[in-house]
Amino acid sequence: FGRNLYYYDSVESTQKIASKLANEAAEEGTVVISEEQTAGRGRMDRKWHSPKHTGIWMSILLRPKIPISKAPQLTLITAVGVVQAIEEATELLPQIKWPNDIMVNGKKITGILTELQAEADSIHSVIIGIGMNVNTLEADFPEEIRRTASSLSIEAGRTIGREELIRTILEKLEKLYLLYLTKGFLPIKLMWESYAISIGKQIIARTITGEISGKTIGITEDGVLLIEDSAGVIHHIYSADIKMNE
Ligand code: BTN
Repeated sequence: FGRNLYYYDSVESTQKIASKLANEAAEEGTVVISEEQTAGRGRMDRKWHSPKHTGIWMSILLRPKIPISKAPQLTLITAVGVVQAIEEATELLPQIKWPNDIMVNGKKITGILTELQAEADSIHSVIIGIGMNVNTLEADFPEEIRRTASSLSIEAGRTIGREELIRTILEKLEKLYLLYLTKGFLPIKLMWESYAISIGKQIIARTITGEISGKTIGITEDGVLLIEDSAGVIHHIYSADIKMNE
């Protein structure tokens, strides 16, 4: 990944640029990075705060030959790669909150946004967006996320070199992606589970159709979250916001 790399000072969103490149037949593994995003996007149409020089705002183009139903696996693969990279770059113990939040000491450090373009049932391209708060100071965060978000530097108590970290992330992701293409999702599912904070916990999942509360019992082969409610009914959660019910 990253042999074909586009680097910008400021863009609206690296996702937007990567999807344009995807339509221009850019090769798999193309990476778009920007120092700043003026209209960074998060999941569920939220804004992603992406101030200059403080983080890693990056999108990676993939063209996996997998059915659309398996696309959520790519988010989980990315989460594992990001966690491994953080472990290598710092002394921190990052964890994954399904599906895509990377947490350190209970605060969100990184978000992953997976967007895909498909024709009929076949995937044309997948854009994986990674937003990582690296050297963000507490005062840089908007008031409304200050309690729940953090950065590597805040948690590690020192500045973290972004270039090296980008290299490590791309290296880890490429390795995991190749493992996935050759050996399937199972080995990655096991790694993912070893980092997951939300398995076996009481949670509330806020989905588009309403809230479901229950205990998380794991993820499926496809990367779908399984929740067992108090009546013993098992729910498949494809997309939701998870609140830990502590
Ligand atoms: C989330 O909601 O947790 C996902 C956040 C993803 C943010 C990244 S930053 C790089 C890429 N470009 C965007 O506009 N969003 C993603």
